[in-house]
Amino acid sequence: MRAARCTAYGPPEGLEVVTLDDPEPGPGEVLVDVHAAAVNFPDVLLVAGRYQVPAPPPFTPGSEFAGVVAALGPGVAGPAVGTPVAGAVLTGAFAEKAVVPVEGLRAVPDGLDMVHAAAFHVTYATAYHALVTVGAGTAGEWVTVLGAAGGVGSAAVDVGSRLGMRVVAAASGEERLKVARVLGAEAGVDYVREDLKTRVRELTGEGAHLAVDPVGGDHAEAALRGLRRGGRFVTVGYADGRVPRIPLNLVLLKDAVVRGFEIRMLRRYAPEAVAAGDEALARLVRDGMRPLVSRVHPLGEVAAALSDVAGRRTTGKVVIEMGA
Ligand SMILES: NC(=O)c1ccc[n+]([C@@H]2O[C@H](COP(=O)([O-])OP(=O)(O)OC[C@H]3O[C@@H](n4cnc5c(N)ncnc54)[C@H](OP(=O)(O)O)[C@@H]3O)[C@@H](O)[C@H]2O)c1
Repeated sequence: MRAARCTAYGPPEGLEVVTLDDPEPGPGEVLVDVHAAAVNFPDVLLVAGRYQVPAPPPFTPGSEFAGVVAALGPGVAGPAVGTPVAGAVLTGAFAEKAVVPVEGLRAVPDGLDMVHAAAFHVTYATAYHALVTVGAGTAGEWVTVLGAAGGVGSAAVDVGSRLGMRVVAAASGEERLKVARVLGAEAGVDYVREDLKTRVRELTGEGAHLAVDPVGGDHAEAALRGLRRGGRFVTVGYADGRVPRIPLNLVLLKDAVVRGFEIRMLRRYAPEAVAAGDEALARLVRDGMRPLVSRVHPLGEVAAALSDVAGRRTTGKVVIEMGA
């Protein structure tokens, strides 16, 4: 099979596409013919050796896929060979075949093709739980979404507006804000040129009820300052590269709630919330929701695809299609 390979930590340009033996599923594992794999920001961090969970080289990056079950390992009763599946792993998805633990598989939501199924779960589940499960967002509330044209951000704009929340999209530049407006944002703030706190307060009156932050850096404190009294701030990720250090007196003065969200923790500690989220997202997909896939690349262009994500040059999701 063909597979991307990281042989030493570094920038995405160091990735190679090589031919490897097909992997064999062990006990509790399933072999999947990968049709499509989405790029997520953590893939860039893993290849650089900067992710919180390390993967020692050599390894095949790729953490989210959709495909078809090709073989079952010893002791695995199903899903049957030929079943369409999607899933998330730490590594291994930028390849024509991947071995995954059976509990890491999920059904492909009705209505999603392989490219959109690969691009769906990580960002949409993150967006849903940050907004609803952790953020307690409800219809009619103002929500500031940072990085609103990126993977998690665009999903948060999409889900939040479909659930009736009034989204203020924050992103770098008008072109990126346009993307968020198409997904349902009511207003946009270019946080490179405008003061985020001031604009959010102007747009919302007293300030936003909720902020969802997959970016971090200086924008995090500005978004917290743009909350109303009693507002909620959910920290999701640090695409900026800098983990914000927020003065706690801001939290005190605003009577604010700051919470973290991490999807693996939720899967481990709150499976019932995960199931409720999957159901809610499946309903939204039935109503026509689709992840924004802005580019599809063949496997041979995997380095360029990751480089574009690292360089902030993409909107929504970038997908590697194996047969392309
Ligand atoms: N907690 C969880 O469970 C969870 C789940 C999924 C992802 N995450 C994390 O969430 C973060 C975002 O992931 P994603 O998939 O949405 O990434 P993405 O598609 O690359 O989007 C990140 C956005 O951040 C903004 N940004 C600001 N400064 C940046 C910089 N220096 N470099 C790159 N982007 C920058 C960019 O928008 P502008 O140019 O418009 O500012 C970009 O669109 C990552 O840190 C990821 O690890 C966390």
